[in-house]
Amino acid sequence: MALNDGLLDVRGLRIGFPGYDGTSVEVVKGIDFSVGTEKVALVGESGSGKSLTARALLGLIPRPAQVSAEHLRLGDSDLLGLSARQWQALRGTRLSLVLQDPKYSLNPVLKVGKQVEEVLVLHTRLGRRERREKVLEMLDAVGLPNPSALYDTYPHELSGGMGQRVMLAAMLINDPRLLIADEPTSALDSHLRDQMLELIMDLVEQRGMGLLLISHDLPLVAKYCDRVLVMYRGQIVDRCHAVELAAASHPYTRTLWSCRPSAASHGQLLPTLSRQLLEEIA
Ligand SMILES: Nc1ncnc2c1ncn2[C@@H]1O[C@H](COP(=O)(O)OP(=O)(O)OP(=O)(O)O)[C@@H](O)[C@H]1O
Ligand SMILES: [Mg+2]
Repeated sequence: MALNDGLLDVRGLRIGFPGYDGTSVEVVKGIDFSVGTEKVALVGESGSGKSLTARALLGLIPRPAQVSAEHLRLGDSDLLGLSARQWQALRGTRLSLVLQDPKYSLNPVLKVGKQVEEVLVLHTRLGRRERREKVLEMLDAVGLPNPSALYDTYPHELSGGMGQRVMLAAMLINDPRLLIADEPTSALDSHLRDQMLELIMDLVEQRGMGLLLISHDLPLVAKYCDRVLVMYRGQIVDRCHAVELAAASHPYTRTLWSCRPSAASHGQLLPTLSRQLLEEIA
């Protein structure tokens, strides 16, 4: 397991939405976790609070949600109470977010090269020539062929897999310490999924970064990550080493693992979760 050097430290994170009667509906209920220079997966069923947790770490929680925590630290900085301008300075430089589908993240009317370069324009004082050089290097580093031709293409000319690589290039060009990836491969065909995940893992390792990967794909998590946090209804109910997923002792983690579809289970009913059991142990 990689060193946990306390890149990100989250204590008592709560996220709530105002309810009809003036009360708050809590969807993330006081969770604690940390991420160092390592690959940590956040898994759990739909609606368990994974994406909202990731968004809170980037200051991107949708209104009217409210975030509170005992602390939310990235290195020496406390993220709680940052202004909009401070969040903007942080995103793309010290931490970055890769989302599911490049269609929604890339600007359709801006050439690919310009889009990756935009991050440098916003966050560095590099000159035009240096920026272009850095963009070409980064497009090459994410495995895109012929970067100088690609620089002048528009997002619609790219396949989904290429678009996702462009996104990754934009997110990594400023050397963030922590990458948060929310289902980064679920819009891709299965053969591209492994390639993309492998690329993310290689880059994270090469650059000595931390990764928080949100995924529904437990076999991929077991293959690529170091540790796993299991979320259920706004709480982290289990934590384990990724290699231990197949032999997890927590009933929820066990069910998540055994619910994964595979060629062997084709045509058979997948196991379902006993909610009652979970209520007892939660
Ligand atoms: N804008 C909103 N207003 C009210 N409730 C919301 C809002 N956004 C999310 N929620 C609720 O917060 C809970 C957690 O949502 P979140 O998107 O974090 O789930 P998730 O674990 O990422 O699920 P998935 O695996 O489907 O992406 C869900 O129950 C959802 O209904
Ligand atoms: Mg989500």
